[in-house]
Amino acid sequence: MNTTQIEEAKQRFGILLEEQLKRVEMMKAQGDFIDYKSLEKIIIGVCGGDGIGPAITGQAQRVLEYLLREDVQSGKVEFKVIDGLTIERRAEENAAIPPAVLDELKECHVILKGPTTTPRKGDPWPNVESANVAMRKELDLFANVRPVRIPEQGIDWTFYRENTEGSYAVGSKGVHVTEDLGVDFTIVTSQGCERIIRAAFEYAKANGKTRVTAVTKANIIKTTDGKFLDIFKEIAKEYPGITADDWYIDIMTAKLVDEKRRKDFQVLVLPNLYGDILTDEAAEFQGGVGTAGSANIGKRYSMFEAIHGSAPRMVEEGRDIYADPCSVIRAGAMLLSHIGYNKEADQLYKALDICTITEKKLVMTGRDTGATSAEFADYIMETIEKLN
Ligand code: IPM
Ligand code: MG
Repeated sequence: MNTTQIEEAKQRFGILLEEQLKRVEMMKAQGDFIDYKSLEKIIIGVCGGDGIGPAITGQAQRVLEYLLREDVQSGKVEFKVIDGLTIERRAEENAAIPPAVLDELKECHVILKGPTTTPRKGDPWPNVESANVAMRKELDLFANVRPVRIPEQGIDWTFYRENTEGSYAVGSKGVHVTEDLGVDFTIVTSQGCERIIRAAFEYAKANGKTRVTAVTKANIIKTTDGKFLDIFKEIAKEYPGITADDWYIDIMTAKLVDEKRRKDFQVLVLPNLYGDILTDEAAEFQGGVGTAGSANIGKRYSMFEAIHGSAPRMVEEGRDIYADPCSVIRAGAMLLSHIGYNKEADQLYKALDICTITEKKLVMTGRDTGATSAEFADYIMETIEKLN
C-alpha cells in the first residue's frame, strides 16, 4: 500500500485548508469598498508588463494624463510607473510578482496593467505562477468584470467572473499522490460567493438591468458549485425587481450562439473557470479577445487590463512602436469610470468608437505600413478635443 504517500498528500491538503481558512477570516474582517471621493489623492499605477506592454500602456497613460490634466496639475491625481513586472525579473527572483514590485503596486489605488507572460511547459522560464492570477489573489481583486457589447445585434452583456476562488485559488498546489494519481482542488467560501454575487446584483440595480443569471455546474459539482448557487438564490431574494435565473455552463455556452435567446441575457455571475471560458467565447462575437477590456475589482485595490498577449515577437523585430494600444486604452476608460471620472470615460469611449469604427482615419497594421501607437494615441486625443 501507499500509506506514506497518502499521509504526505493529507499533510499537504491540511496546509491548504489552513491557508484557506485564514483567507475566510480575512474576508470576514474586510470593510466596504474604498470611496475614491474621500481620498485626497488618487494614485494610478501604470504597470507595463512584458513584450509590447510597456509601449502600449505608455500610450494609454498619455491619453489618461491628457483627460485628467487639471487634476494631475492640482495634485489630486498622480501617475506612478511601475517597472519590473517582467518575465526576466520574475524568473530571476523565482516569484509570480517580485516582492518589491508588489510593494509598489500596493502604494496605488488603481492599476492599469499591460500583458504579462505566463510560462508554459517547454518555455525557457521557470514555472512561476501567472502574474495575473497572483495579482488578483495578492490584491484580493475578487470581481472580474467583462462587458461585451454588440449594439447592432442587441447584445449587452456584463460578466461578473469570480476571480480569487474556484479552480484558480490553489491551481498550482495540486498533489501528485502517487505516480499515477493526481488531485487538484476547487475552493469555495460563503464570503467569496456572497461578495461577487452581491456585486453583480448591485451593478444590475444601479444600471437599470432587470436580469441576473448565475452559471454553474451544480448538478455535478455539488459542493462548490452547489454552494455558489444556493447563495445566489438567497441573495436574489433581496432584489425583488430583478429576475434571477440559473443555467448550467454547458447549455450556457450553447445559448450564447443562439441568436434568438442570447439577447435576453444581461448580467451573468459565475465561478472563476466558467467565467474564464465563457468570456472568451463572448468576446469572440465582439471581434476577439483583443477587443475586450477587463476590470479586476476589489474593495481596496482595482486593476484594469487588456486581455491579449505580450507579443514578444513584435519586440524582437523592433515593431513594438506599431503595436495597437486600443484595448489597453479601453481598459483605461473602464478605470476612469471606476474612480468617478464618468464624463472623461464617456469621451474616451466615444473617441474609441470614432477612431476604430466610424471615422477610422488611421490604420494599425502592427508594422511600418501602418500608424504607430503614439500616432494612434494622438488621434484619440485630437478626436476628444473636437468633441468638446
Ligand atoms: C484571463 C486569462 C488568464 C486567466 C490567464 C492569462 C492566466 O486567460 O484573464 O482570462 O486564465 O484568468
Ligand atoms: Mg481567459
